[in-house]
Amino acid sequence: MRIIHVVGARPNFMKVAPVVRALREYTSVRQSVVHTGQHYDFNMSDVFFQELGIGAPDINLQVGSGSHAQQTAEIMKRFEPVVLEHKPDLVLVYGDVNSTVAAALVCAKLLVVVGHVEAGLRSFDRTMPEEVNRLVTDQLCGILFTPSQDADFNLAREGVPPERIHLVGNVMIDTLIRMLPAAEARIQQDLPRQFALVTLHRPGNVDDVEWLANMLRTLAEFSGELPVLFPVHPRTRERIGKTNLNGELAHLRLLEPLPYLEFLALQTRATVVITDSGGIQEETTYLGKQCLTVRENTERPITVEMGTNTLVGRDVGRLKTELSRILCHEKKASRIPPLWDGRAAERIARILSN
Ligand code: UD1
Repeated sequence: MRIIHVVGARPNFMKVAPVVRALREYTSVRQSVVHTGQHYDFNMSDVFFQELGIGAPDINLQVGSGSHAQQTAEIMKRFEPVVLEHKPDLVLVYGDVNSTVAAALVCAKLLVVVGHVEAGLRSFDRTMPEEVNRLVTDQLCGILFTPSQDADFNLAREGVPPERIHLVGNVMIDTLIRMLPAAEARIQQDLPRQFALVTLHRPGNVDDVEWLANMLRTLAEFSGELPVLFPVHPRTRERIGKTNLNGELAHLRLLEPLPYLEFLALQTRATVVITDSGGIQEETTYLGKQCLTVRENTERPITVEMGTNTLVGRDVGRLKTELSRILCHEKKASRIPPLWDGRAAERIARILSN
């Protein structure tokens, strides 16, 4: 069986790694990894391949940045000849980025079976480009690997036949569990006793410069009690430059985007993580770390129901209230969702081998 994995953006890399590893156990499987080049900076891409031990991608399509239409179209144009040449029996796509939907579309037209890892998640908010990517990808895929039962319900509601859906658990947590000891070895001794770890990159948060400035001011207000460590995504760095905040920014530790191990190490020590990322809502749930998500909705409701995640929306008052609560040691308890046990990729490999 010939399998091509397609990845493109930072959150894809920790999802593909355990699946590649699990499939190596099956001698009948030949696999290759195609990187679309959606992310291309060293610390947004290469460093993850190095740390996760999956080797460099076999093919890099080097599409780079662009509008959604340009990027998606460019990936399709460059991926189609790869499929025609390599004639895979199966293509696996991951998550909800533009590379995911672009590859799924190419395969659907060429009648190549596609499997979607992290299928069925829904925010029910079509203003998010990722929600459009999720909806389209799941309709095109023949095999849907879901991380939690809510995803199965979403797919069933959309009319996906049950035989296409496989509840396998969370591959991102597979990677977290495997890498945790190495991450703990990276913990720096000079970290503040308490700190907030911040990541923000969604267009809904960072493209609105006024709202972004509001959030940064709020974080700066708390930074006396709670130092703020903020690894900044390239999109966000560009937008911060437009806020005209100077004095306030001096209170925040703005860092370059961090490698996987260093970021995981910080998550294990943070008092609170403030984020708009999907994956970080899951990682904090597993780690039992308090997480404040600066979004009105989440495609990962299980992190709110069972985990430590709280949605604070676009509401500075709510953010302040929740931060004050956490500083008073009022913590949300959590449970680890079923099948978030480090073996999701093994389940995927077993299903594929059958
Ligand atoms: C993409 C995904 C988002 C995911 C995020 C993780 C889509 C629609 N969005 O958003 O779901 O959460 O990745 O980071 O696929 N840039 C660089 N260097 C890079 C990559 C990007 O400087 O290596 C800059 C470019 O200016 C680019 C901008 O970041 O225009 C945005 O990159 P893009 O891949 O379009 O979207 P993300 O915001 O990263």
